[in-house]
Amino acid sequence: MSRNLRLGVNIDHVATVRNARGVGYPDPVRAALLAAEAGADGITAHLREDRRHITDEDIARLSAELTIPLNLEMAATEEMLAIALRHRPHAACIVPEKREERTTEGGLDAAGGNNHLAPMVRELKGANIRVSLFIEPDAAQIDAAIRLGAPVVELHTGRYAELSGDAQADELRRLADAAALAAKNGIEVHAGHGLTFDNVAAIAAIPQVRELNIGHFLIGEALFTGLGAAVRRMRDAMDAAR
Ligand code: PXP
Repeated sequence: MSRNLRLGVNIDHVATVRNARGVGYPDPVRAALLAAEAGADGITAHLREDRRHITDEDIARLSAELTIPLNLEMAATEEMLAIALRHRPHAACIVPEKREERTTEGGLDAAGGNNHLAPMVRELKGANIRVSLFIEPDAAQIDAAIRLGAPVVELHTGRYAELSGDAQADELRRLADAAALAAKNGIEVHAGHGLTFDNVAAIAAIPQVRELNIGHFLIGEALFTGLGAAVRRMRDAMDAAR
């Protein structure tokens, strides 16, 4: 079903729990199938350079078993490009990656990294993979995405999620402005990072946003309510805000 606002469920942290023990459970692919059953429109997984959560085998199994689109989050490296070209996921979201970070801290410097990113965007697009750039809500980054020919940008909502009061309202305005600028230039807008039941509504209400990618909160909430219920409640919160 084609929805006006899609929900991509990120299953990385099911793999984090599995890898804490080095055993085979909990299985992120099982989580992905459950999320799909509960109404997720897509599954997102980040194959990090250090393989701290999702593994190559997880990507192979997700590619084989999913019946909804897979969005592969990847650093702009030759290794990840080769993996993306091998599995040909529906989408690839290029993210910045530093080994020492706990999660993806800050957006990609598309404006500063053009030479590096241009061939990557071209090759992924050539393989029919929908390329997205994970960027801060900033006009310079959107200009760079336009120059790079990226069909999609994902706006980083991490700062919005951490702020409160006036500062959060300012950041929300930056997100809304960035979404409008990108859409005006024909770029599809996604958003994600740090979204919860409590803060998702304002982001879901930005009319140009077509997809939200949400992981850490949903996997945590699943401990208490089960993953299906958590996904359904997030879906309802998104629909109510629209
Ligand atoms: N979008 C991107 C590009 C990300 O890197 C992440 C985190 O892996 C998310 C969305 C989801 O963020 P969270 O796990 O905080 O919901």
